[in-house]
Amino acid sequence: MSSSHTPSHPLVIAVAGGTGVVGRHTVDAVRAQGHECRVLTRGRGVDLVSGRGLDAALDGVDAVIDTSNVTTLSAGRSTDFFRAATGNLIAAAEHAGVGHLVLLSIVGVDRMPYDYYAGKVAQEAVVEASAGPWTILRATQFHEFAGQLFSRARLGPLHLAPRAPVQPIAAREVGEHLATLAAGAPGGRADDLAGPREERLDDMVRRYARRTRHRGWVPSVSLPGKQMKGMRAGYALPDEHAVLGTQTFADWLDELD
Ligand SMILES: NC(=O)c1ccc[n+]([C@@H]2O[C@H](COP(=O)([O-])OP(=O)(O)OC[C@H]3O[C@@H](n4cnc5c(N)ncnc54)[C@H](OP(=O)(O)O)[C@@H]3O)[C@@H](O)[C@H]2O)c1
Repeated sequence: MSSSHTPSHPLVIAVAGGTGVVGRHTVDAVRAQGHECRVLTRGRGVDLVSGRGLDAALDGVDAVIDTSNVTTLSAGRSTDFFRAATGNLIAAAEHAGVGHLVLLSIVGVDRMPYDYYAGKVAQEAVVEASAGPWTILRATQFHEFAGQLFSRARLGPLHLAPRAPVQPIAAREVGEHLATLAAGAPGGRADDLAGPREERLDDMVRRYARRTRHRGWVPSVSLPGKQMKGMRAGYALPDEHAVLGTQTFADWLDELD
């Protein structure tokens, strides 16, 4: 796991999606490591899809980290968003002379390039085809994913717990790793980043439900869709070269308010 450090020369680092689940931790880590940080989101006047505000926001920036996201299960919507958003970000970064673009992707997307993950594969391809220096980090599911699924995977009043083996990591640790990568030299494809131990996703969702005082039954289900089928087959698990974080899902749950 990377450790935070105080750089000898502070950089200006922009974080696209810097108010999101992982983006806000990335912004905190960039600042904690002694750099100046710019937050690129629609709420801060920058629209990656239309390009509004991008050129001005990247003026004088040394490195940019892309943690932008779209919430969809549709392969078409995901692909349209990531191609446009990351394509515009790269074009503006090249125009502004930004020296390094770091993209956050997900472990195993190429083994299950369907549904939402189709967009992540397209996004990686946009970065790989770009002329400028880049690093792509693939991370496993965040611990926060349990709460997102608890809210989104529903059948009427029933919350569903999707079956799949995963090795989740704290979004805070992903943010720290992204900040460290952005301040370093472009590295192409970085080693994958994963949490310290394998978990069952359905078990994580039920533990999250109990921790947040949900009393109802949360049944395990096999969700439809090729992406979820791939996850059930273990395609989201990291390989033996992965860098491992330290915070377990149980530790993360203990810290929840
Ligand atoms: N969830 C996981 O377990 C997981 C695991 C590994 C990697 N990842 C990857 O991590 C990345 C971030 O995911 P997340 O769950 O942290 O995201 P999120 O919470 O959904 O946040 C998305 C961010 O993107 C910004 N955004 C959305 N549309 C935008 C636009 N058109 N222009 C500018 N900014 C825009 C949002 O701000 P505004 O709404 O203000 O624009 C927000 O800051 C994604 O690429 C995802 O694939 C996720």
